[in-house]
Amino acid sequence: MNQSSLITSSAFKVPLAPWVSFPKPQISNSRSFELHKDLAIECKNLNYSITTRNGNWKHILKGCSFRIPSGELWMLLGPNASGKSTLLKILAGLLNPTDGFLQVKKPRSFVFQNPDHQVVMPTVKDDVAFGLSKFNLTRDEIRDKVEKALVAVGMHNYLQRPIQTLSGGQKQRVAIAGALAETCKVLLLDELTTFLDETDQVSN
Ligand SMILES: Nc1ncnc2c1ncn2[C@@H]1O[C@H](COP(=O)(O)OP(=O)(O)O)[C@@H](O)[C@H]1O
Ligand SMILES: [Mg+2]
Repeated sequence: MNQSSLITSSAFKVPLAPWVSFPKPQISNSRSFELHKDLAIECKNLNYSITTRNGNWKHILKGCSFRIPSGELWMLLGPNASGKSTLLKILAGLLNPTDGFLQVKKPRSFVFQNPDHQVVMPTVKDDVAFGLSKFNLTRDEIRDKVEKALVAVGMHNYLQRPIQTLSGGQKQRVAIAGALAETCKVLLLDELTTFLDETDQVSN
């Protein structure tokens, strides 16, 4: 990853933590370390490589190190193909880093860039409830969480709507509602505003 940076929402104009860092990768036998209580995410010398079809290694992330405090909104900025989505998938636990240290507060939720990769159930309410099935909740608790999450994204009038009748932006809001319903401690959003128009980007 190169030419990318992390910035906080409270200081949009000032890049606080330069992303560019290519220290020599440090490989350690131990992948676990204590996450400080004030931190939501900590990465140390994170690397991610893949093997290409012709058998060569391709480095996608090299020596990523950063800390994200709890309770803050941060943005990851960088050019196309700089590794932003890859890093988010690693933070979400969908990909394993090749090496390095990583701690993310749990539970964590991830919203894909394309909601068609995430919105899987036939109706809006079923889709938002889908992720809640892993928790030991009553039907009333699930209904309450689904309704609150849909209110939060302005989709509470669409509870019964079939997913295929929604626009791209509406599907993206449903995907975000699914993540919010899980009351996660870390919410990871990939290209959050891709399908949202200008008004929705500001209000959501
Ligand atoms: N599974 C994969 N196989 C081959 N190349 C990949 C794979 N995943 C990501 N890449 C490559 O890694 C680089 C970073 O991709 P990505 O994380 O999607 O970038 P960004 O989100 O910053 O646009 C790109 O060059 C992409 O083609
Ligand atoms: Mg991407």
